[in-house]
Amino acid sequence: MVMANAVSSSIEGAKQDFSAAYNCRWPHAYFRAHLALDYMIPDRAKPVFERVFADYRRVRRKTRLKIIDIGCSYGINAALLRTDLALDDLYAAYLGSSGSLSRRHEIEHRAFFRNRALRDDIQFVGVDPSFRAVRYAQNLGLLEAGIPADLETRNLTDKERCALADADFVISTGCVGYATERTFARVYDASTTSRPWVVVFAMHPFGYDGIAAALGEFALETRLVDRFRQRQRRFSTSAERQAILTAMTELGMEDSLERTTGYIYASCYISAPPGEVLYGRIL
Ligand SMILES: C[S@@+](CC[C@H](N)C(=O)[O-])C[C@H]1O[C@@H](n2cnc3c(N)ncnc32)[C@H](O)[C@@H]1O
Repeated sequence: MVMANAVSSSIEGAKQDFSAAYNCRWPHAYFRAHLALDYMIPDRAKPVFERVFADYRRVRRKTRLKIIDIGCSYGINAALLRTDLALDDLYAAYLGSSGSLSRRHEIEHRAFFRNRALRDDIQFVGVDPSFRAVRYAQNLGLLEAGIPADLETRNLTDKERCALADADFVISTGCVGYATERTFARVYDASTTSRPWVVVFAMHPFGYDGIAAALGEFALETRLVDRFRQRQRRFSTSAERQAILTAMTELGMEDSLERTTGYIYASCYISAPPGEVLYGRIL
């Protein structure tokens, strides 16, 4: 079993630390730090999410979707999935010389997304301990509700459980490793009645066995979908590259993409009640 915590300690000190940008009032530092390493997983994940959402709508005969985003940050997945914007559009809006989204005017930020016609047939509830980021995303209307909590260390309140009820999906990008089976189990427990599907991109070398086992307790089957594997970001330093490749070798993970391209990849895992999804190989 690949334990996220064991992996965290084996690459600790070498893995790029973005945490200073996670909990700011404005997202600019986050976008600057992530653009510097060509961070692209929310963009690469978008068509995969859209494809799985389409399958879910067909299987469950539903149009409106409620999505829980674990590690929602400044509402980036919500912004991409509720508009036709690409991640580069967000990088340009926050960091470009036109300065369309400066650090000053929340009204300006709200108008930016409203003018991109935020679709309302997909609603997001975000979970993330970075409370300023969650508040930003809520204030802009990207998130319907936000749970600014570290569910590694505490249970959900009754009010938070209500906000998570009736979900169709639990998704996550860039967050496995910080969030483990503890968080996923607490979130799924609060929304188990509606049997949401879970679609997660986990950066290498973080494994998924612990989360898959926790979701198995809710009678979900988890599949690793090889063909949905996507680029996450560039290696930050040669020390980080070495530490991640060493961890991947020790864990028996296939690393030819990382060795060839200079980018770290993320594996895609989909969990659902048995018989509802057809993709990929079962874990
Ligand atoms: C690399 S960012 C990814 C943000 C966004 N999903 C994306 O792909 O752009 C990692 C996020 O995980 C959040 N995080 C850290 N610890 C967490 C935890 N215990 N539970 C949920 N999110 C956590 C951070 O606050 C940060 O917003």
